[in-house]
Amino acid sequence: MQIIERISDLQDALRGETSIGFVPTMGYLHEGHESLLERARAENDIVVLSIFVNPTQFGPNEDLDRYPRDAERDQAIARSAGVDYLFFPTTETMYPYDMARVSVRTGDDVLCGASRPGHFDGVLTVVSKLFNIVRPARAYFGLKDAQQLALIEGYVRDYFVPVEIVRCPIIREEDGLAKSSRNVYLTETERREAPLIQQALLHANGMFASGKGVLEVVEETRGRLARIAGTTIDYVEAVDYPSLKAVSEDTKTILLAVAVHFSGARLIDNLLYTRGA
Ligand code: PAJ
Repeated sequence: MQIIERISDLQDALRGETSIGFVPTMGYLHEGHESLLERARAENDIVVLSIFVNPTQFGPNEDLDRYPRDAERDQAIARSAGVDYLFFPTTETMYPYDMARVSVRTGDDVLCGASRPGHFDGVLTVVSKLFNIVRPARAYFGLKDAQQLALIEGYVRDYFVPVEIVRCPIIREEDGLAKSSRNVYLTETERREAPLIQQALLHANGMFASGKGVLEVVEETRGRLARIAGTTIDYVEAVDYPSLKAVSEDTKTILLAVAVHFSGARLIDNLLYTRGA
């Protein structure tokens, strides 16, 4: 595995390659990221992993400065996952000066877009830069961040970006908590309570399956999340997926997404429910 910091070095290394699988991350790798790498390894000749904690997707009061980092451990995981090139740029490389951002025009007014203004502009800005640098055939994203994935699919479709976006399922801890780099922020007690998030979603899945309406399911889920000690709910919302518009009669797949604040971490999780499946 080669670790590359400079854009031109990566482009030299990738010249002529046509089967490139790309996994963009912010590092502090866990099994969720590894599952993306495994899939990329299986489907491409070359696997590129990027690790870059992207400042433009963090709000002023968010955790940019304390976002967990462990370069050595990440490199070991990347090596054993069969990564060919680890792109590890500096902020100066990615943002040499203050520049215009890619701007999300639809689907940014709900869920994380509503509670983190400008977040997805930052995500799409860095993802479009990374796509232009790496020029992958396929890029792998997790449904853990379902809104992010839908907005990236929309961006690729709207701007005719020549890359195939591959959706990958949510990887969870044994007790059901979705794996996240931010889980390290939880206190011991919070860590014990956190699986209740998925339990609320599983209960919601049962309600959808038994024909309950969206409003009722959202309210019941909100009630269950409210009972998790010491937390506050950021949002509980159901939207059509992947359009991120309001659920209608025509909706085939519903995204039920939640965000919950613990003392030191904001965690997100979601459920995709396909009607009549
Ligand atoms: P990061 O949070 O590091 O996540 C990188 C990728 O791993 C994303 O596609 C995310 O959905 C996926 N992922 C994270 N946890 C997962 C889990 N438990 N199961 C499956 N996939 C999981 O998402 C970002 O970084 C950034 O916004 C990025 C796209 C890199 C742009 O900066």
